[in-house]
Amino acid sequence: MNTKFSEYFRENFFPDESDLNVFLNSLSKNLTKTLRVNTNKISVPDLKKRLEKQNYILKPTFQPNVFYVDRTADFDEYERRLGFTLEHLLGYFYIQELGASSSVHYLSEGKIDKSEYLILDMASSPGWKTTQLSEHYPNSFIVANEFDRNRTAQLICNVERMGSDNIWICNYNWQFIGRLTETFDRVLLDAPCSGEWIGFKSIEALKFWNLKNVKKIADLQKKLFESWLNSLKVWWEMLYSTCTMNKLENEWVVAWILEKHPDSFEIVFEKRFWPHVDETWGFFVCRIRKLKPIDYKFTDKEELPNRGIERLSKSEQKTFEDFLTYSGADVSDHEIFRYSNEVLAVKKSDALKEVSKRLYFFRLWKKIGKIDKNSFEPSYYFGRDFEMPKLEKYQIDSQEELDRYLRWMEIWIEVPKWLKRIVYDDIVIWIWDVGENGTIKNYFPKIWMRK
Ligand SMILES: C[S@@+](CC[C@H](N)C(=O)[O-])C[C@H]1O[C@@H](n2cnc3c(N)ncnc32)[C@H](O)[C@@H]1O
Repeated sequence: MNTKFSEYFRENFFPDESDLNVFLNSLSKNLTKTLRVNTNKISVPDLKKRLEKQNYILKPTFQPNVFYVDRTADFDEYERRLGFTLEHLLGYFYIQELGASSSVHYLSEGKIDKSEYLILDMASSPGWKTTQLSEHYPNSFIVANEFDRNRTAQLICNVERMGSDNIWICNYNWQFIGRLTETFDRVLLDAPCSGEWIGFKSIEALKFWNLKNVKKIADLQKKLFESWLNSLKVWWEMLYSTCTMNKLENEWVVAWILEKHPDSFEIVFEKRFWPHVDETWGFFVCRIRKLKPIDYKFTDKEELPNRGIERLSKSEQKTFEDFLTYSGADVSDHEIFRYSNEVLAVKKSDALKEVSKRLYFFRLWKKIGKIDKNSFEPSYYFGRDFEMPKLEKYQIDSQEELDRYLRWMEIWIEVPKWLKRIVYDDIVIWIWDVGENGTIKNYFPKIWMRK
């Protein structure tokens, strides 16, 4: 054990030796797996029923849409891995740790709020909380910012699997976001942190813990916090969270900002999760309400917006419309854009028009296909999320056939007839060009399968 780590927690939290030991021992214990129901796609009772058929039992937590996952006695790990179930692939749930899912829970006061807000998720990849925001605020628009371009692939992948259709993804640093003075109704800052919860994976990992690193990361958190506070409208609320337990990255960051901008906000709610008490990761959440504008100094370094989305050209528009006629898909409540050769559909909104003047997005859900002048190739998401009544259905009607399909084995079907909707249990799970040889195959991204 890293003595600097244990000494810090003794001095600041657990002067009593036995309390300290209970805390330290809890770091290497396994936590019960939890999942979050994607209420945009399925109700809690329906998901429970579907998973029970596969020998999973969902037990309540303090959050209405998050459940502990238990298994029946005859559960066969090989047969039915949670991350390999059809329900996981269809984005009906997200395997998410309980403490980590509390940020959005506390921001939304545990409710599904149907108002139309403009929300900023300041540090969003890999998108656990972004997709959760989409569930708690289904009619809002969520600007998901991730400054590290390399991490956006994971974010996009999760947004696509969950089918969250109100998320706009962009790629800026905090200096740029800070310029969006009083723009957002809600802000989530799930800050980069020293990640003490890593101790759960390996106590060894804590050997790198030291106060110098913690202070360095706390300095970054202060900058992010300040720029994010500036971007929030007065009287609106935001939530700061980290997956660390020390005070420097949590209470002290909040206190530092309040000292720099006196009376600019009030703390509405604050909680630290302890592994040995709450049986979660070590986690910290603080919800605040902004009370007045802050005197925010823009840094000189302004990032130029990166290249964003465009409209389809006339010939591409014609090609796309031909496909709509062929499939019967109705996209009239969406606007259609292009990013590179990808076609993206986004719900129509005035908020998007306004924000697009100041931010460039490189991904607006949903990616509905690829286009060039002469051809449009629909993506899986197009078939999954929009009705295509003119396309024939192919019904997978046995669990065995579904299992073959989910294990990437080919299924032969009798009447090859080009594009079909592959259906199981009345759910369109894929659209697939059957082709001459009459086979269908699973093309779910393998990254969606979670062990
Ligand atoms: C704790 S993770 C966010 C997890 C995410 N909210 C989720 O729930 O999936 C912190 C994020 O902060 C981003 N980050 C790191 N350094 C940053 C910086 N200097 N400015 C802005 N974001 C940064 C990281 O790329 C990372 O995506």
